[in-house]
Amino acid sequence: MDLTKTPEWQALLAHKTRLQDQHLRDLFAQDEHRFSHFSVEIDGLLVDYSKQRVDRPALSSLIALAKNAQVEDWRDRMFAGEKINFSENRAVLHTALRHTDFTPFPSAEDDVMPQVHAVRKQMRDIAERVRSGLWRGYTGAAIQNVVNIGIGGSDLGPKLANRALSALQHPGINFYYVSNLDSAHLAPLLEKLDPSTTLFIVASKTFTTQETMINAHTARTWLLAAATEEKAIAKHFIAVTSNTQKAHAFGIPDANILQIWDWVGGRYSLWSAVGLSVALAIGMRGFERLLEGAQVMDKHFCSAPLENNLPVLLALMSIWNTNFLGAETTAVLPYNESMRHLPGFLQQLEMESNGKTVSRDGAALSCRANPIVWGEIGVNGQHAFFQLLHQGGWLIPCDFVVAASSDYPLPGHQAPLLANCLAQSAALAFGKTEQQARIELAAAGLKESEIAKLLPHKVFAGNQPSTTILMPSLDPYQLGMLLALYEHKVFVQGVIWGINSFDQWGVELGKQLANSLLPALEGNQAFDAQLDDSTRGLISYFRRYGNN
Ligand code: F6P
Repeated sequence: MDLTKTPEWQALLAHKTRLQDQHLRDLFAQDEHRFSHFSVEIDGLLVDYSKQRVDRPALSSLIALAKNAQVEDWRDRMFAGEKINFSENRAVLHTALRHTDFTPFPSAEDDVMPQVHAVRKQMRDIAERVRSGLWRGYTGAAIQNVVNIGIGGSDLGPKLANRALSALQHPGINFYYVSNLDSAHLAPLLEKLDPSTTLFIVASKTFTTQETMINAHTARTWLLAAATEEKAIAKHFIAVTSNTQKAHAFGIPDANILQIWDWVGGRYSLWSAVGLSVALAIGMRGFERLLEGAQVMDKHFCSAPLENNLPVLLALMSIWNTNFLGAETTAVLPYNESMRHLPGFLQQLEMESNGKTVSRDGAALSCRANPIVWGEIGVNGQHAFFQLLHQGGWLIPCDFVVAASSDYPLPGHQAPLLANCLAQSAALAFGKTEQQARIELAAAGLKESEIAKLLPHKVFAGNQPSTTILMPSLDPYQLGMLLALYEHKVFVQGVIWGINSFDQWGVELGKQLANSLLPALEGNQAFDAQLDDSTRGLISYFRRYGNN
């Protein structure tokens, strides 16, 4: 059924027309309790969506849209372990990884928890040994550096969590994340590290990803150049993968191979052993708190009525902005320095999941799906691109994310940080009218002729929608809730748009082409005739200037 032809969609088009001339200023004027009507708090995580351009009738129609798309049914099918990732014939069970109750999951017949518990135990053992100094390198020295080699979901989640929780990090161990194939990522790091105190985690579900494998082999060569004996690999390499065979072939012994399963999607894998670097940094108990926070969000998602269901509400706001108000992009603006990797993480989560134009049944979607996700640390953005948000004339919904208390407190910083965050969402929502600008200029003593000249530049249209997400502090539990919230938001959007959010065929073509271009770039001219003219021209430039 064409989504855009449903009565629910048509009702929303009517709401759009009705609300067209309503400014957020009007919506706030009409409802003096708008904040309490349009915000939800769960275990300290507060989501304020009152600055979205919806009113209660529009919200009811959005909820009807979700019901009609059978969001609850799809959610239950996901949690029941059905193979809803049909194009890869896989279940979607990352929620099992944060199932911390001692009960079977997803069901007694198909219980995956024994495997999950076994890997958690392996993680705990490794974390305890590394953190206590019992894990020794080839010279007998304790580990002081952990390098996670991975890319995409095997990098972004643990890198985000590690940085977000860095205040809780083990003081004697440094953590690094290497993803780029460009040797400028790995080379300077190897220069400063001591092989005898460095532990590499090769995180790759497939253990075939080119970027990761090239970096891992370079690290292996670097280690063996110092350690000389192959048995040193067992002391300095851990693999997180579903491809045990390839990890063995690399030289990693069974005890150092932590399993992930085909029912864990790469971008949903932070909760698995892909999060090992996080467990090493903050301890296994801290990692379990992350899982517990995520599980609280899972339970909320499964039990709260849609009207009050945070992932559903966030998804609906995004659909409203994208498909009805016409937003093409959305900005993620964390204000805590430690949350600097949130935009990158959400780019993969949202765009790799829902950046699609084909529905589950193979038909073209009748509406645009995921908007372009981008973002930056909020205060830095204020001095860079916020000008465009305020006066550039684009509709760009924003997510403001901030923790109320600082993870690295210094006197005089936190209140101004929060003031900036709250000021920006208010300024974007309410703007400044011509009349307000005129009064201000007159009060500053400007003559009428000067006011006339400046006035157009001093007006802020406002009406820019945003959601503000507040956490009491940056702790593992809150972070777990936050990330699971976004995961389920993406799922709900996918269900409503009719997308399989769990495959990513769109990344394959580039991988195939990169492999086929390699011989030409390495100098084999026999391939040139098969190349398009542009690629041939670019390769000949590389042959002139490049180094292999
Ligand atoms: O970019 C495609 C992708 O498959 C992502 O979905 C995944 O997170 C990343 O590559 C890394 O894959 P792997 O963990 O198998 O190395």
